[in-house]
Amino acid sequence: MRPRLYVDLSKIRANAQRVLEFLSKHGIELVAVTKVTLGDPNIARVLREAGVRIIGESRIQNVERLISSGVTGPFMMLRIPQLSEIDSIVGLCDYILVSELDVVKKIEELCREKKHRTKLIYMVDVGDLREGVWYENAVEEVVQAAKMCDWAELCGVGTNLGCYGGVLASEENMRMLLNIRDNVERLTKKSFPIVSGGNTSALKLVEEERLPQGVNQFRVGEAIYLGTDVTNNREISWLERDAFILEAEVIELKTKPSVPVGETGFDAFGRKPNFFDKGWRRRAILALGEQDTVPGQLKPLDEKVEVIHASSDHTIVDISDVDRSIRVGDTMKFRLTYAALLRAMTCPHVEKIYV
Ligand SMILES: Cc1ncc(COP(=O)(O)O)c(C=O)c1O
Repeated sequence: MRPRLYVDLSKIRANAQRVLEFLSKHGIELVAVTKVTLGDPNIARVLREAGVRIIGESRIQNVERLISSGVTGPFMMLRIPQLSEIDSIVGLCDYILVSELDVVKKIEELCREKKHRTKLIYMVDVGDLREGVWYENAVEEVVQAAKMCDWAELCGVGTNLGCYGGVLASEENMRMLLNIRDNVERLTKKSFPIVSGGNTSALKLVEEERLPQGVNQFRVGEAIYLGTDVTNNREISWLERDAFILEAEVIELKTKPSVPVGETGFDAFGRKPNFFDKGWRRRAILALGEQDTVPGQLKPLDEKVEVIHASSDHTIVDISDVDRSIRVGDTMKFRLTYAALLRAMTCPHVEKIYV
């Protein structure tokens, strides 16, 4: 068998409904992000059933996959666009996150040419150091962008947090974004109604009733699929946490020392694993590897199983403390982190089973 990823659509639907209700109570629109699913149409359909209006994607190929499977927009392009792909993005996406004036110029030209309207959200970096104009220079640049737009419609500002610097959403950085929007409105005498302030990591701020009034859009993926918030290192108690379960088959069972024998260099991936001498241990090898997922980030359902290490196609687990007997041909199941899920969903060798 291939590694199997069980996708529980009813749990994803329930999570999307809960996030949607929670945010709408606070006046925040949900953009549900499908990028970790490779734009999976079955998943996008349950998001729509849950009442999600906008689907966020980072790859135009995923948007194409959704459309060709009958999922209709509106779509939001989350990754700031490549100039080389703008043509198709403008054609297929209703909202585009942008952070470059050259890109705005090109989008405006395309919109004018096609007599097409596309909404743009200008990204501001409030400290995390990934995309966006640095907050101190933002007003000037967003005003310039607004002046370039006629067919394209600059309808707001946004920010992304937690993805590079691990910066948490706070009252301060959300206020910075709101102030930038207010100053741009004052200088251009136009209205910019969308303030797209958060992703999963900002949900906590809403839970604690600390989100400043005016932030009115969140783009959420991780919470809906995993019920976790990696940036704040927490599980979200009001969401389901096992919508995805990965299963792999045992291909070898041996008892071996816990420290290698012989002079050691680096492993197959150029890493140097840490070895602790625990004596001889009962180990299983699973038909699963770095190609299929991020094995080091798997969480065994049986807590007595310990993932030790993996190479491309083999994952080694320590089963010495497991009570039940395990045989070659048996399988083991795991919960996944965001990174592990991303790789599993995008790997063609992992079979997706919708339950
Ligand atoms: C720009 C942007 N917004 C929102 C998201 C969703 O983030 P999360 O999955 O943490 O909710 C992502 C990442 O997927 C992103 O790149």
